Amino acid sequence: MRRANRRRLLGALAAAPLASLAYPRHLRAADQPTTSDGGPFVPTPWVIVDEMLKLAEIKPNDVVFDLGSGDGRLVIEAAKRYGARGVGLERDASLVVYSQKQAASQDLADRVKFVARDLFDASLQDASVITMYLLPRLMPRLVPKLRAELPVGARIVSHDYALTPWPADKTVTFDTEEKLMINGMTHTTLLYYVVPARVGGTWSLTAPPDVAKEPIILVIDQTPDRLTGTAIIGEHDTQLRDVTVRSDTIRFSLLYSGQLTEFLGKIDDSGMQGETRARAGGGRWTARRRPG
Ligand SMILES: C[S@@+](CC[C@H](N)C(=O)[O-])C[C@H]1O[C@@H](n2cnc3c(N)ncnc32)[C@H](O)[C@@H]1O
Repeated sequence: MRRANRRRLLGALAAAPLASLAYPRHLRAADQPTTSDGGPFVPTPWVIVDEMLKLAEIKPNDVVFDLGSGDGRLVIEAAKRYGARGVGLERDASLVVYSQKQAASQDLADRVKFVARDLFDASLQDASVITMYLLPRLMPRLVPKLRAELPVGARIVSHDYALTPWPADKTVTFDTEEKLMINGMTHTTLLYYVVPARVGGTWSLTAPPDVAKEPIILVIDQTPDRLTGTAIIGEHDTQLRDVTVRSDTIRFSLLYSGQLTEFLGKIDDSGMQGETRARAGGGRWTARRRPG
């Protein structure tokens, strides 16, 4: 393809709506759709980069991974402005080389690295923050990977597209002229997620005697879009109410023998523990995982 034609084509790609872009057959093999195709390189406008990094509340001890890092801007800005370290995963090797040069020219080569790799083949376990601007068709496949590999409390900020079916902890919307170039609209959505503690399974719960005299078994079912639980107390099965887990904090309520008790606690490697709150008073509760 003549150089001018190629430039025009790339310009058209950048101006087309991200979700509706189709790859022309004659682009390089690396640009052809695959099952892990998160879309072409369309850079996040700088003003949105600012908002994404603010929303993630980046600290110097964070390690920021950008999934499909394009020209490296999110990772480089996180290092430059917040003193974080970062990793860009990008399948297009020429963008990786470009990002490495950018980082070196800003004296950040010791804080950030860029890897030419499909993001599905890379481990995310060292990340404390994930940023991304990828096509929505990738999200359902990405959710189990993020939930399995990221540490509890890791934050994720996704530009425009939700990690379906995981409900976002926070959604921020705003208008910006810079978005017109990309999808013909000024509207922008940022979706924020915190990786919750893993609480699915069966637990032995010890509650204050005013809640229940018998031992309690908790059975918790946790998926990206659902968190439900049942308390088995003697012969009775009772649904837990309003079960939520944010980072390492759990909250749920239990109605038993006419009394509603709220449980608020922390989750760590040893189990869960915290305080109960009920009209009759409160006390300490603990829960340990049951083997098997
Ligand atoms: C819309 S651009 C976003 C670039 C950058 N994150 C930003 O926000 O400016 C998406 C990038 O993801 C890359 N990409 C898509 N699927 C990928 C995959 N499976 N593994 C690695 N990179 C991928 C593309 O090559 C492209 O550079």
